Amino acid sequence: MRRLIPTGEAARPVAFAELPQPVPEPGEALVKVEAFSPNRGETFLLEHPRPGLLPGKDVAGLVVQEAADGTGPAIGTRVVGHPAHGGWAEYAAVPTHSLAVLPDGLGSVRAAALPLAGITALRLLRTAGSPAGLRVLLTGASGGVGHYVTELAVGAGAEVTAVTATPARGERLAELGARVVHDVAAAQGPFDIVLESTGGPDLPVALSKVRPGGTLVWFGQASRTPVTLDFFRLLGGPERVTIRHFHYAGAPYASDLAALVGLVERGRLHPEIGRIADWTETAKTLVDLRERRIRGKAVLLTGETR
Ligand SMILES: NC(=O)c1ccc[n+]([C@@H]2O[C@H](COP(=O)([O-])OP(=O)(O)OC[C@H]3O[C@@H](n4cnc5c(N)ncnc54)[C@H](OP(=O)(O)O)[C@@H]3O)[C@@H](O)[C@H]2O)c1
Repeated sequence: MRRLIPTGEAARPVAFAELPQPVPEPGEALVKVEAFSPNRGETFLLEHPRPGLLPGKDVAGLVVQEAADGTGPAIGTRVVGHPAHGGWAEYAAVPTHSLAVLPDGLGSVRAAALPLAGITALRLLRTAGSPAGLRVLLTGASGGVGHYVTELAVGAGAEVTAVTATPARGERLAELGARVVHDVAAAQGPFDIVLESTGGPDLPVALSKVRPGGTLVWFGQASRTPVTLDFFRLLGGPERVTIRHFHYAGAPYASDLAALVGLVERGRLHPEIGRIADWTETAKTLVDLRERRIRGKAVLLTGETR
């Protein structure tokens, strides 16, 4: 079968290889992948890929072999999955604890856009606490995670200010109910909660806008630039702020995947998909994602897709 493997080249980070179909472990189902979606974090891993890396964490498709231990969906069930690796392929072995069943109305394209970014948004908001009635600042808002966080936080009653580079990248965020600014310095604080994912010079500016006693949750460094904080400048700013580190990972993912599917089904969550392309265009799509040319998620199709 065909799968995409890393090349280590910046201009063409993956290429096709003909490799054997994966042999599922007892707790894994074999899924015929119809669509998959890359994430910014995966583009980072592809810069210096470890030997044997098989990329791909977000897939949607059809179960063609049930898990041997009897857990999980039956053959012929349409699913969304979040394997640890190996999803950018015709077939993927996916642990049943990281699969959710898809209803008829939810196709593989929208489903594939859900896993990593959607689970991150759910878990990030749980970490931050209920945002109802609170003022929330979100940096790096125009990507996959940002659109989900914005829709869920606004839906939960938060007043969201979203930071993104351009009006075009902020258009959908504004439709979702966010106040959109194009520089973190322009955000009108103070904020109860700051969700920060760009790092570099943005984090100290965002931190200065937290209300006394408020919280900044740091969950990414899209700029690739480390953060420098000056204790004495903080003394002149808000007092008693909490800075929390956040990482989404930790299986099982099935219940969060099912929650995301339910939110989409009920019209409470709308995946923002800025690019849908055949998987022969994966390398170009990864470069465009890295270079901030895609709004929301990108979804790649392996062939016939329902
Ligand atoms: N901690 C975790 O568990 C976890 C999980 C998932 C993702 N993340 C992180 O969360 C962030 C968003 O992830 P994603 O998958 O949504 O990524 P994405 O779709 O690629 O979006 C990245 C966002 O970062 C902004 N950005 C990119 N380069 C930037 C730069 N040089 N300076 C400032 N802003 C920049 C982009 O905004 P504009 O270009 O519109 O300004 C865009 O909104 C990433 O940093 C990612 O690594 C963390």
